[in-house]
Amino acid sequence: DKEIIILGIESSCDDTSAAVLRNEEILSNEIAGQRVHQEYGGVVPELASRAHQQNIIPVVDTAIKKAGIKKEDIDAIAFTRGPGLLGSLIVGTSFAKSFALGMNIPMIDCNHMHGHVLAHFIDDEGKDKPEFPFLCLTVSGGHTQIVLVKDYLDMEVIGTTIDDAAGEAFDKSAKILGLPYPGGPLIDKYAKLGDENKFEFAKPQVKDLDYSFSGLKTSILYFIQKQEKEKPNFVEENMNDLCASIQKTILDILFKKLIKAAKEQNIKSIAIAGGVSANSGLRTRLEEEAKKRQWKTFIPKFEYCTDNAAMIAITGRYHYLRGEFADQKIAATARLIF
Ligand code: KG4
Ligand code: ZN
Repeated sequence: DKEIIILGIESSCDDTSAAVLRNEEILSNEIAGQRVHQEYGGVVPELASRAHQQNIIPVVDTAIKKAGIKKEDIDAIAFTRGPGLLGSLIVGTSFAKSFALGMNIPMIDCNHMHGHVLAHFIDDEGKDKPEFPFLCLTVSGGHTQIVLVKDYLDMEVIGTTIDDAAGEAFDKSAKILGLPYPGGPLIDKYAKLGDENKFEFAKPQVKDLDYSFSGLKTSILYFIQKQEKEKPNFVEENMNDLCASIQKTILDILFKKLIKAAKEQNIKSIAIAGGVSANSGLRTRLEEEAKKRQWKTFIPKFEYCTDNAAMIAITGRYHYLRGEFADQKIAATARLIF
C-alpha cells in the first residue's frame, strides 16, 4: 500500500493546532493555546481569530519539522470546516487553501465532531480500536453528543444538549465558585479531595436521549447565595465537597442517558471523546459502568481528547481514501451538522 501523509489543521475555537499523520500514525501534533482569554473568563472570538492568525504559520512549521518530513512529502491538507467560531475557522480554512494551492496538493474539509470520534483510530501502541457500530459520548466545551458510529464517516447524533454543553456546565459551575477559566480541570482536581454526596443539586428531566445543563448552574448559584448569607466563607470552606458534588451531578446526568442509549441500541462498545473525557471522575465511572454492564470501553490518549489537529488529520485520511476532496470555493461554516 502507498504511504499517505496528511497535514491536519484545527482552528475551530481557541487552540491553533497542526499535525502530521503517516497512514494511521501521528508523527507530530503541535498545539498553541491562547492565554488571552483567561482574564475574560471565556473565549473572546475576536481575540481568538487574531491569535490564530499569529500562530498558524509557526505551528505548522514546527509540526512539519518535528515530524521529520519535508513539506513536499505531504499528500493532502485536511482542515476543520466547522462547527466552531467563524473567525477562527476562516483562519485555518484560508491557510489550507493557500497551502494546497502553493503545494499543488488536494485539500480535505473535515467536521470537527467527526474528528473527536475518529481520534479513536489513531495508532496507539497496540491498543484496540473500536469496531462498528459503537457509541461515542462526545463531551466538550461546545458540545454534548451521544453519537451512533456506524462507519468511519457514517455517524448519527442520537442525543444532544438542549442548552449548555457538559464542559460549559463544568466551567460555569467553576466560575460560580470563583475559580478561573477553564474551570473543568480544577473541579476535577478538587473533587478528588471531597465528598461527592455532601451536597445535592437539581437534575433535569429531559426527553429521550437529550441533555440539559442550564438548570444545574442556577441550582448551584441559588444554593451558594443562600449559604453565604449565613456563612460568608461557605465556598472556601467547602470547596472540595462542592466540586465533588457538582462533578457527581454532571456525571450522573451524562451516564443516565448513555446507559439508556446503550440499552436501546443494544451496543456494548462505548467510547468517550472531547475535552471533558479528560475528567478523571468520568473515566472512573466509565470503567465502573463497564464492569457492571460488560461494556468494552475506548478512551483516547489525553492529547487527542481536547481539541487537536491529529483528529482532523485522521478524519482527512478517511475522506482521502474515499476520494472526497474540497475545491477552492469551500467556505468555513460555524454551524455544521453531520
Ligand atoms: O474539546 P475541548 O478542548 O474544546 C472544545 O471543543 O470545547 O474541551 C474543552 C472543555 C472545557 O469546558 C474544559 O473545562 C473541559 O473541556 N475539560 C474538563 C477537564 N479537562 C478539560 N472538564 C472536566 N474535567 C477535566 N479534567
Ligand atoms: Zn472540540
